[in-house]
Amino acid sequence: MPESRLIVALDFSTVNETLSLVDKLDPADCRLKVGKQLFTAQGPELVRQLVRRGFDVFLDLKFHDIPATVELACRAARDLGVWMVNVHALGGGAMMRAARAGVGDDGERPLLIAVTVLTSMGEGDLQETGIAGTTEQAVLRLAHLAQRNGMDGVVCSAREADVLRREMGDAFCLVTPGIRSAQAAADDQCRTMTAAAACAAGSHYLVVGRPVTRAADPLASLRQLQREIQGMCAR
Ligand code: C5P
Repeated sequence: MPESRLIVALDFSTVNETLSLVDKLDPADCRLKVGKQLFTAQGPELVRQLVRRGFDVFLDLKFHDIPATVELACRAARDLGVWMVNVHALGGGAMMRAARAGVGDDGERPLLIAVTVLTSMGEGDLQETGIAGTTEQAVLRLAHLAQRNGMDGVVCSAREADVLRREMGDAFCLVTPGIRSAQAAADDQCRTMTAAAACAAGSHYLVVGRPVTRAADPLASLRQLQREIQGMCAR
């Protein structure tokens, strides 16, 4: 069975909504992402349940705090048995090194990923925060910082995947949300791309939320995405 490149974002608040989708999914077909909404509403027990069902779980809590707090939060994520966990690169080098210490260094540790610039942010939003340069320059700067400080990869928009793959090398993991078909609504996302184009640009893992979770037939949408990316994503 090929390793799945699709990560379904379980952006729900209730166990019922979550499990009614998860019951239809197979761990061989996709991975799952638990973000702030579901984690805040339901806590770690649901994460443990998803792990026990055999799913690779990406705990998307985007830690951004003082190094000691992030280290212990990352250790707690590791103890949950998640496959991937993330921090904000804007937390800085010391915070990312602490995160790395927190997940440990054996084969069992989760992948540790840094968010560069949120895919919902455009150039104007970035300037408003005082971050200099274009979005691409900011993403590159933060990706280099992440790599130097022990991160396994970054969350970025698929629009930056091509340049990041060339700059950071094949082993640096690129996780790209903001996946939308050409006809679909962008919702609150700004830097979107189709699944096929994201794979062609060098994305390793595609995070897909509303295009699957709000579809009339979520499983059919997932299968359609799988067909679109078959054989296309970077190893
Ligand atoms: O519904 P949609 O496909 O836009 O969902 C994208 C998911 O990816 C959301 O759960 C969102 O929190 C997450 N995400 C993102 N941009 C990032 C990091 C995570 O959209 N930079």
